[in-house]
Amino acid sequence: MSALTPILSSPGWELLASLQARQETNPIPLRELGGALRASGVEAGLAAAVLTQLALREAARTKFGPVASHMVFTRDGLEQATRLVVAVRHAQRFRSAGATRVADLGCGIGSDALAIAGLGLDVLAVDIDPDAAGAAAVNLRDFEGSQVRLGDVMDLDIAELAAEGVDAIFADPARRTGASRGSARITNPEAWSPPLSAVLRLARTIDRVGVKVAPGIAYDVIPADWHAQWVSVGGSLVEASLWSPALAPEGRGRSCLLLDEAGAAHSLASPCGEAANVPAERVEVAPLGAIIAEADPAVIRSGLLARLAQRVGAGIVSDKIAYLTGDDLPDSPFYDRFEVLEVTNLRPKAIAAALRSRDAGAVEIKKRGADINPEDLRQSLKLRGGTKELTVIATRLEGRHRAVICRRLPANL
Ligand SMILES: C[S@@+](CC[C@H](N)C(=O)[O-])C[C@H]1O[C@@H](n2cnc3c(N)ncnc32)[C@H](O)[C@@H]1O
Repeated sequence: MSALTPILSSPGWELLASLQARQETNPIPLRELGGALRASGVEAGLAAAVLTQLALREAARTKFGPVASHMVFTRDGLEQATRLVVAVRHAQRFRSAGATRVADLGCGIGSDALAIAGLGLDVLAVDIDPDAAGAAAVNLRDFEGSQVRLGDVMDLDIAELAAEGVDAIFADPARRTGASRGSARITNPEAWSPPLSAVLRLARTIDRVGVKVAPGIAYDVIPADWHAQWVSVGGSLVEASLWSPALAPEGRGRSCLLLDEAGAAHSLASPCGEAANVPAERVEVAPLGAIIAEADPAVIRSGLLARLAQRVGAGIVSDKIAYLTGDDLPDSPFYDRFEVLEVTNLRPKAIAAALRSRDAGAVEIKKRGADINPEDLRQSLKLRGGTKELTVIATRLEGRHRAVICRRLPANL
């Protein structure tokens, strides 16, 4: 029996709905709620399933917002699910390209499928895991044009899918190992399930294909004519995805898309017509200027740091170290800026003295190209009583390890 079974039918479903409503108006800790359920005679298996679902829904709010209260999750499924704001971006590509029925291959709990269905397209969602497929079926329950199938996508006949009206494909291969897919990440795209090459081949029959991939994907496995996009949300890198030409109105190449908490989007792309799989352009090294800037991870992973540097007239502080520097770097959504106050040896004593002389009571520590442990450094600084928060950037300048004492500049955008 699946862990979800008790809540997918009556009376479990109704119990979950009533407790969800109660938790939203008058929340009590889940442990107390568990005690109350047992005291009122609710069978232990059902009580555990309901409590697990309430906890997963709560955890899912960071990815799904209030929609989470109407969904069901498995633990693995939630961990691997695309956050809704990003899934909606995927779905928009399908709608803009005129797709009508999208096959979501390896749908998990159905986040991408839900976003696609939500934009009015039909979805055929397939997963090999009964719990994931069961959750996806519940999550897609309000969309008549959606169907969930339990099965191995490697057994699907692409020509049959096309004959069934599927005119676009989304795939999000599983990229973890272990019984419950544990925590180890698989870096080789051919060891993903399904393998990347198997997904890319589908585009020979159905030309609208999108695939979510690991952000660390090597550029040389990306088809030259496709578009690869790295996405960050609130400054954290969340995914990369590859889009066949029919789903890439921006044309071939690479881009990054930065979504902020307020819903604003900023993107930067490689030069028009450049192949998606060319190596990243080198960034020139420049002497340390009045400002150091830390680019968003999506800019760096997409290989667009040189493009950003050219745009703002910056260089990097040392070869292969992705801190930009210059005297006059403008405010930008693509990086955080720090005013350089002083440069010291990368030794706790020297750093602590510089910080104390500037009345620092708190410090944020960043590092690139320096083998330090920020937490150990923070402990050894023993800052007390100061009133300011400053930043220490541990890095390499002119071949030597250095600490750059900085002040974070506010973003005005
Ligand atoms: C990364 S998750 C998908 C997450 C999904 N996009 C979402 O946002 O909810 C990958 C899913 O692929 C499924 N999967 C892996 N290999 C498969 C196969 N050969 N056939 C069908 N499903 C598969 C796994 O069970 C897992 O649920």
